[in-house]
Amino acid sequence: MRNLRTLDDLTLPELQSLLTEADEFAGDAAPVFYHNAVVANLFFEPSTRTKCSFEMAEKQLGIETLSFEVSHSSVKKGESLYDTAKTLEAIGCKGLVIRHPETKYYEQLKGLNIPVINAGDGAGDHPTQSLLDLLTIKQEFNRFESLHVVICGDIRHSRVAHTNAKILEKLGAQVSYSGPSEWMDESIKDDQYLTMDQAVEQADVLMLLRIQTERHDNGSGYSKEAYHHRFGLTENRELRMKPHSIIMHPAPVNRGVELADSLVECRRSRIFKQMANGVHVRKAVLAHVLNLKGEKIYDHVI
Ligand code: CP
Repeated sequence: MRNLRTLDDLTLPELQSLLTEADEFAGDAAPVFYHNAVVANLFFEPSTRTKCSFEMAEKQLGIETLSFEVSHSSVKKGESLYDTAKTLEAIGCKGLVIRHPETKYYEQLKGLNIPVINAGDGAGDHPTQSLLDLLTIKQEFNRFESLHVVICGDIRHSRVAHTNAKILEKLGAQVSYSGPSEWMDESIKDDQYLTMDQAVEQADVLMLLRIQTERHDNGSGYSKEAYHHRFGLTENRELRMKPHSIIMHPAPVNRGVELADSLVECRRSRIFKQMANGVHVRKAVLAHVLNLKGEKIYDHVI
């Protein structure tokens, strides 16, 4: 059975093949799969992009989705995640997409006989976000080797930062970090840390992160203005970026904090491209995990 709990569930060739397939979906490949798969999307934490792009990917693949709202379910009566998941398996779901606030929640689900796609676990991993980030970088530079990616902001609380850093280094990119020193991870070496002024001048990819206020015990400790001035991408700092460099952010964006409002849709920004790529990547992941067999019909052939 195939799961996607972390990117460690994929071999490097499988990961490369998913990116190629997602890139085909981004082009003119319209897949026709022959299947009767029904999946359920379980979101125990709020989500706009991940939830909606999984739903869009499922619609485009012809997958039926079972409506499941945590707030109207027996989770509210105390039913465990495992019993909820086993129930959905028992009634015929062929896979589950789950976002949950607990890091490594999927370890509770080892008794399941259907696959789990992790849509984000606490401060752990967010593998489909990483795949869509990789696809966006690949479409831009057609390589990962020797690219300098600087991940900026709330590293310690970010599942995106952890997953991305690990896979980008494996693929040959140089990864550095910038942001408040108290939000850095213990694993970050001194020579990987850059001030924001150094980061903007050195990065090929400037990957900004949202401040995860929901994971801070006593607030972030910075006013929006102070954070933007010291650690954010201001309009003046953007002017010092290399001509070809791009800006990424997993979103939701705190406009005027991680980056200036005017930069969210600037020529360097790939933020909305990342969201579009989320659908393509999630289609490739669903087809892989559910082992869907089918044909790709190309628009120009029809
Ligand atoms: N990037 C991301 O995971 O966004 P959502 O929380 O809206 O799904």
